[in-house]
Amino acid sequence: MSVPDRTQVGIVGGGPAGLLLSHLLARAGVESVVLESRDRAYVEARQRAGVIEAGTARLLREVGLGARMDRDGLEHGGIYLQFAGERHHVDFVDLTGGTVTVWAQTEIVKDLVAACLDRGGSIEFDAEALGVDDVTSDRPLIRYRDAGGVERELRCDAIAGCDGFHGVCRAAVPNLAVSERSYPYAWLGILADVAPSTDELIYAHHTRGFALHSMRSPDVSRLYLQVDPDELIDDWPDDRIWSELDTRLGLPGWTLHTGPVRDKGITPMRSFVSTPMRHGRLFLAGDAAHIVPPTGAKGLNLAMADATVLAGALVTFLDGNSELADTYSNRCQRRIWRATHFSWWMTSMLHRAPGDDTFDEALQLSQLRYVTSSRAAGESLAENYVGRTMRAA
Ligand code: FAD
Ligand code: DHB
Repeated sequence: MSVPDRTQVGIVGGGPAGLLLSHLLARAGVESVVLESRDRAYVEARQRAGVIEAGTARLLREVGLGARMDRDGLEHGGIYLQFAGERHHVDFVDLTGGTVTVWAQTEIVKDLVAACLDRGGSIEFDAEALGVDDVTSDRPLIRYRDAGGVERELRCDAIAGCDGFHGVCRAAVPNLAVSERSYPYAWLGILADVAPSTDELIYAHHTRGFALHSMRSPDVSRLYLQVDPDELIDDWPDDRIWSELDTRLGLPGWTLHTGPVRDKGITPMRSFVSTPMRHGRLFLAGDAAHIVPPTGAKGLNLAMADATVLAGALVTFLDGNSELADTYSNRCQRRIWRATHFSWWMTSMLHRAPGDDTFDEALQLSQLRYVTSSRAAGESLAENYVGRTMRAA
């Protein structure tokens, strides 16, 4: 198969941001090539996000990717917040009229890959970008190693760096301003072949640390435990994980159902925002430019929002009008910072940090009581979780 050496938009990274961008550009008649360092099976199976905002679900429908989601996704009208031995329901429908959808990132990625290949689009798997050059010229290029190990160049009219937090594109933006925070804990996540023990997600504050009960389908559960960032997954056999989940999520009269664990891993937690998201003809989108801790389920939604804004900017930019490209970074920042605050706030309210004392714990419990008993406070949480519109963010 021939390997392309030029295209209109060279996209580094075949995660949700890169694949959605390619899809949106194709719908607008703009050609792109996606370079993805991993193979297709890996990209389609990588366990990440599970919950999407109402606006992200709407976007998927609008761009022809809603059929499987509408059939198999689980629409949720709220979440449970658990603390001090009580489980409280936060009713998003009552508070905001909105819902979220449990629809896994793996499924969104599968639909995007299939849509791209069906239209004859170009995704090069096992193609690792080594760097980007000439980004301030009008013919920037991506250097990459193809699936056969051969080093090649892809000449483009513009480059989208959608290569995630550990990618190579961000380094090509000089004078980046970075705001970041690391957290003294990590999440151990499991995917288990067992029916969820709850109808909606449970976010649990516990003296032993945070736990989350999420799900993927009526037969598959996804659960998380707060652990120390230097914990080794080998020290967490399945029995230990289930026992700890049971301790943190357990309530009298409620049973946590256990089952075979299919996948497990530990993820560090960080907030990171870099600006600007553009240098010359290189544009950053998604985790390449910013990451949030997973509490509150914002990262995938942000990545897809960036891709949507970027698609519009690139279409007009390639048509000779640079106005939307010039304002791309600034237009994304409000939404990014709203999600950054919300994720930090949810994380801080629910986790136990080393050195936390009775004062810290009392503040957390007070905040949890407030959001579950005051309509105004509950509305604020619900509005952020369900997702504000792009303009309101
Ligand atoms: P990525 O998904 O990281 O994709 C980047 C792609 O670039 C990858 O495929 C990578 O292989 C490729 N790549 C990297 N370097 C190169 C290179 N040099 N050359 C070529 N390709 C390269 N978000 C939510 O909204 N809701 C949730 O419920 C949620 N839960 C989460 C739970 C966990 C445990 C984690 C870890 C994350 C969660 N997130 C959640 C965050 C979400 O998964 C990410 O924000 C999202 O994947 C970002 O998409 P992206 O396309 O920007 O980056
Ligand atoms: C999931 C992940 C999250 O970070 C979250 O807040 C809710 C759900 C999940 O993977 O299902």
